[in-house]
Amino acid sequence: MDPKLISAARATFPAGTDSIVLGAPVRGREAHPEPLVRVPLAMLSRHGLVAGATGTGKTKTLQLIAEQLSHAGVPVFLADLKGDLAGIAAPGEASERVKTRATETGFAWQPRACPVELFCLSGGLGAQVRATVSSFGPLLLARVLDLNPTQTSVLSLVFKYCDDRGLELLDFTDLRTVLQHLTGAGAGELATLGGMSKASVGVLLREMVELEQQGALAFFGEPELELPDLLRVTPDGNGIVSVLELQDVQDKPALFSTFMMWLLARLFAELPELGDPPKPRLVFFFDEAHLLFRGASPAFLDQVTTLGTGEALISALAPNGAPTQPFATRLIPPASRMGVLTELELRWLVATPQVQKYRRSVDRESAHEKLTKRTPSSPSESESAAPPAVARNDGVSMSEILNSPLARTVANAFTRGVLGALLGSPRRRRR
Ligand SMILES: Nc1ncnc2c1ncn2[C@@H]1O[C@H](COP(=O)(O)OP(=O)(O)OP(=O)(O)O)[C@@H](O)[C@H]1O
Ligand SMILES: [Mg+2]
Repeated sequence: MDPKLISAARATFPAGTDSIVLGAPVRGREAHPEPLVRVPLAMLSRHGLVAGATGTGKTKTLQLIAEQLSHAGVPVFLADLKGDLAGIAAPGEASERVKTRATETGFAWQPRACPVELFCLSGGLGAQVRATVSSFGPLLLARVLDLNPTQTSVLSLVFKYCDDRGLELLDFTDLRTVLQHLTGAGAGELATLGGMSKASVGVLLREMVELEQQGALAFFGEPELELPDLLRVTPDGNGIVSVLELQDVQDKPALFSTFMMWLLARLFAELPELGDPPKPRLVFFFDEAHLLFRGASPAFLDQVTTLGTGEALISALAPNGAPTQPFATRLIPPASRMGVLTELELRWLVATPQVQKYRRSVDRESAHEKLTKRTPSSPSESESAAPPAVARNDGVSMSEILNSPLARTVANAFTRGVLGALLGSPRRRRR
């Protein structure tokens, strides 16, 4: 091994800083037996990218970083498209390959599992993630409904109509009732809504049906996901890993990519600005990010290196924030399982108070009840399997503060503002 390369790595990644250990420098097939390549924890509050051809170890690299963050007390969110990240909930297996790699990279490998909470979007396993139609706002909803700019304007006017009349849009039933009202008994009010036609409102109704068929009914409504549930730390100081299982909605990128935008805007709106903390408050990982950010540049394809599986060209941010020179690195194996969970393990994992908390949808008085003069229906169960009531992962919650009605209203307005800035105004947006 080239001594110059080793001394460069030692100088670039000084020992002693709180950091995530990634692996050992390689030259050709030879790895230096010391895990020198690291990323300082403080620098993980910035964006990062793991790119490579299929099967080269991107997902395992995310797992390796995520489990060390959890161990350092940082809550982590993983969008698990293929179901192969949930293995982070189980300890890894000391196979010959794992042992060889640990020896090559000089890493004292120990199997270890992370505390995990599962989430799902459309009635799968885990806590059902929900958001209200109103907090989504017209721009984001237009995106999921795949509306054109004219239809988006119509939807914005419908939202304004509801705001003006105190008609709360919580679930899809509320939105449908309002649209039906405007094409039926309330058609006379269309004149006050920029003179839009019954036909243009009718189009929205049809688009809604399509989204309903994608399982969106389970997603829209209350109780809405409380952000503090993503920020939990176990009593013994491990960050909880929130795994959003997306296998069942892989073919519905509109639903989950839009949910992600909503979640990021919400976090931006509700979490206080911290400056440069010694370690991040929450770290997000999007595996298969090309599905989330449709239309991203194909320049990623140029990033394939001559390296082997589980090896990467790593440039991290040094403690002073400057990018380091890139190092060809053999990554250490994750301490947690490099594979899927069994049916039994999954069942056990959804037996948490958090999954129980989001199990039932709540239907309080909103636009539908006001327009049809009906009383709210009794709480209904989401389609997710009913787990046994076993207590696990009892972290600290600040939900009381963040979920007061006032905080909610302010946060909703702010989230819509952030999304407006992200997406552009409906008139100017191009498709
Ligand atoms: N750090 C590592 N330690 C040990 N083995 C690894 C490591 N990284 C990758 N591997 C091996 O390579 C295989 C493929 O890795 P992984 O699933 O992360 O690839 P990927 O780039 O995410 O592939 P895809 O594009 O198909 O999602 C793993 O199943 C594992 O056997
Ligand atoms: Mg992968």
